[in-house]
Amino acid sequence: MKGVILAGGRGTRLDPLTRVINKHLLPVYDRPMIYYPVRTLIEAGIDDIVVVTTPEDVGDFRRLLGNGHHLGVRRLHYACQERDGGIADALLHAEEFVGRSRMCVVLGDNIIESSIQHFVDEFEMQRSGARVLLKVVPDPEYFGVAQMDDGSIVEIVEKPQRPASCLAVIGIYFYDKDVFDLCRLVEPGAHGEMEITDVNNMYLRRGDLTHNVIDGWWTDAGTIESLYRANRLVAEGVSELAPILRYCA
Ligand code: DAU
Repeated sequence: MKGVILAGGRGTRLDPLTRVINKHLLPVYDRPMIYYPVRTLIEAGIDDIVVVTTPEDVGDFRRLLGNGHHLGVRRLHYACQERDGGIADALLHAEEFVGRSRMCVVLGDNIIESSIQHFVDEFEMQRSGARVLLKVVPDPEYFGVAQMDDGSIVEIVEKPQRPASCLAVIGIYFYDKDVFDLCRLVEPGAHGEMEITDVNNMYLRRGDLTHNVIDGWWTDAGTIESLYRANRLVAEGVSELAPILRYCA
């Protein structure tokens, strides 16, 4: 299985921190943010990885990560997304590298406490399709949210005003080779971005989307609040599970 880390975009919600530094190179406690998604993949045995970023920032990533050997990466590739076309557009830039392999896609600002090895193994056994990971959160309106019926996802809604559940779709996705054709079908939304949620809903409508609900803490780091939370969680290694479960009860 190949690994894809998406580290493009402008990081405007972190302005001015991101005016001259790519979001994924900002520090989270004692290391640059991009180290965490690399670690997530490496710990699950995925060591053939492509980093998709912007043409302006790719030099900085090369300087920091190089060939990736010091982080346990066997082969590290780089690809450039020329415009802020959204996550599905960024993923299309990994196509040349991934080819017809299966892949684990990690958003470059997502940090997860636990290993994803178990989900990798389950996806390997899945005949086709996609797998998403869900997490109970207190603020689902900031994420893609899974609407559930009898334990199955019936729809994923991107940043809904009235979330149908507390289950956020986190930024770690498993896809088969069809994902690139599906990305090409996505219509850009209001801000010209091609949403990954549209791709996941396409798999859902085909009856080919599975999911797991994760334990342990998870956060993204794309806003001042979540960047601060990421620093705190990494530094303290605290478990946020108990208060969140109370909130959702
Ligand atoms: O963190 C999980 C959430 O990530 C999901 O719940 C949402 O469904 C998903 O849409 C996404 O939402 P965000 O609003 O947090 O996405 P954001 O625009 O911050 O992009 C997340 C990462 O994706 C970013 O760190 C780098 C990559 N990206 C994003 C865009 C827009 C790219 O590589 N290129 C892009 O053009």
